[in-house]
Amino acid sequence: MKKIGILLSVMGFVLLNLNIAQAQEDVKTLFRQQCMSCHSIDQNLVGPALKGVTERRDSAWLYGFIKNSQEMIQAGDPIAVELFNKFNKVPMPSHPNLSDEQIGSLLNYIESSAKEAEVAAASKDPIQRPDEFYGANYRQFSFGDVIFWIPMTITVLLFMATLLAFTYVNDNLNAARKIKVIPQEEL
Ligand code: HEC
Repeated sequence: MKKIGILLSVMGFVLLNLNIAQAQEDVKTLFRQQCMSCHSIDQNLVGPALKGVTERRDSAWLYGFIKNSQEMIQAGDPIAVELFNKFNKVPMPSHPNLSDEQIGSLLNYIESSAKEAEVAAASKDPIQRPDEFYGANYRQFSFGDVIFWIPMTITVLLFMATLLAFTYVNDNLNAARKIKVIPQEEL
């Protein structure tokens, strides 16, 4: 029973990670499909660069604006009106179908992409290597890659199988030892 418990929790862990990777893919797609035509993280396009937006606005404002910016502008929200004027009075489409959860993950995605871009800029390889250095098929694995998770899952399963085999042998050895114990009265 205990062994099955361990096995299940390891499988659960692997599945959870696959889920997280999937969720990250989903929010990326959402951003691409619904926001990226007008927004980038660090450049003003049709709409403002979204880097740092979670710091410069409070969260209720952001949820309200992303859901229906025009409503806020018409209601006279000063920040919304100012932005609208600054960005040539282009109305940002409303997104009534986005759930709070989806908006939350979009905002997280914006934050983490901005951080990633910063880290990448800071740690830019000072030695410029030619492309040939890495070979034509070079690509970096990331946690979102299926190609990363397949060998990972196989490794974990093999590890579990080894562990189970060991406990099996151990249990049998113990059982065998017990049989050989000669009861006291027969001595
Ligand atoms: C058609 C273009 C367009 C699309 C698509 C769009 N936006 Fe906008 N967005 C704008 C414009 C333009 C503004 C500036 C305010 C205005 O003009 O109403 C803006 C402003 C914003 C702001 C406020 C920025 C700040 O500095 O306070 C946020 C946050 C935002 N958009 C998020 C999003 C998200 C998230 C999506 C995708 C779900 C999205 N936008 C899709 C055009 C767009």
